[in-house]
Amino acid sequence: MLLTDKVAIVTGGGSGIGEATSLRFSQEGAAVVVADMRLRKAEAVAKQINEQGGHALAIEVDVSIAESVATLVDRTVAEYGQLDVMFNNAGTLRPGTVIELDVDDWDLVMGVNVRSVYLGGKFAIPAMLNSGGGSIINTASISGLHGDGGAVAYAASKAAVINLTRAMSTDHAADGIRVNAICPGTIETPPVMRMMEDPVALEINMRAHAIGRLGRPEEIASAALWLASDESSFVTGEAIVVDGGLRAQSPLGRLADPRPEHLR
Ligand SMILES: NC(=O)c1ccc[n+]([C@@H]2O[C@H](COP(=O)([O-])OP(=O)(O)OC[C@H]3O[C@@H](n4cnc5c(N)ncnc54)[C@H](O)[C@@H]3O)[C@@H](O)[C@H]2O)c1
Repeated sequence: MLLTDKVAIVTGGGSGIGEATSLRFSQEGAAVVVADMRLRKAEAVAKQINEQGGHALAIEVDVSIAESVATLVDRTVAEYGQLDVMFNNAGTLRPGTVIELDVDDWDLVMGVNVRSVYLGGKFAIPAMLNSGGGSIINTASISGLHGDGGAVAYAASKAAVINLTRAMSTDHAADGIRVNAICPGTIETPPVMRMMEDPVALEINMRAHAIGRLGRPEEIASAALWLASDESSFVTGEAIVVDGGLRAQSPLGRLADPRPEHLR
């Protein structure tokens, strides 16, 4: 039990990576606030946790709106008395080159992916100071490390998350607050699996990861758990890549494909 007596907020907790992490944090002893703009999804996850004997509360939030995030933190502290872990995980993607992308979609992506991390820190850190410190984890992406085109706002937003993580970590290390990011490869979550209904997209994505498959939400939850817990007590300002070896191989490496036939 790595999170006994801890209180965690998981944004985007109603689906995918956030859902898996909410369940994992609870299994490790944390009380979990499952926060999502889709309240019914968050309620379903909280219900599952409570039925398994854990402690969870679902709260509706829009992570891009200051008042909404402030209320989320206030309600968490009112319910559980403290805040130890903030997982800024909610995110969104709108495809497009700079020519194609609408200005409104640029603002939406930057609001949900970047302003959310600023707001999550702004309101969580004062609460964490009251309980002697904490761990903030931000979901970035390998898209924040590469210049892959086709979703420029998303790529820019995730790069911003990585450097915002570093800057926050240096400001608050002395307060006992660690701030880290996770950069997932392609993970089997509902929006991704809709894209993977195209067999060509699935094939390309499987081959791109050296391990030969997509990642599972539980595999990102494991990384989040480690960063949330004291097991990572000397780690801050990092962007941990969890990508099944995607970045380890060059495109040329795929020509000499060592994987079994069924994975090619
Ligand atoms: N799945 C992947 O392959 C992958 C790869 C790299 C990074 N990520 C990142 O992981 C995070 C989680 O994505 P996922 O794949 O689990 O997707 P998902 O759609 O399964 O979950 C995201 C959740 O965030 C919620 N959300 C969206 N906008 C919100 C807002 N403004 N306020 C509150 N909640 C909001 C959605 O309702 C949804 O429940 C995102 O930040 C995403 O960019 C995903």
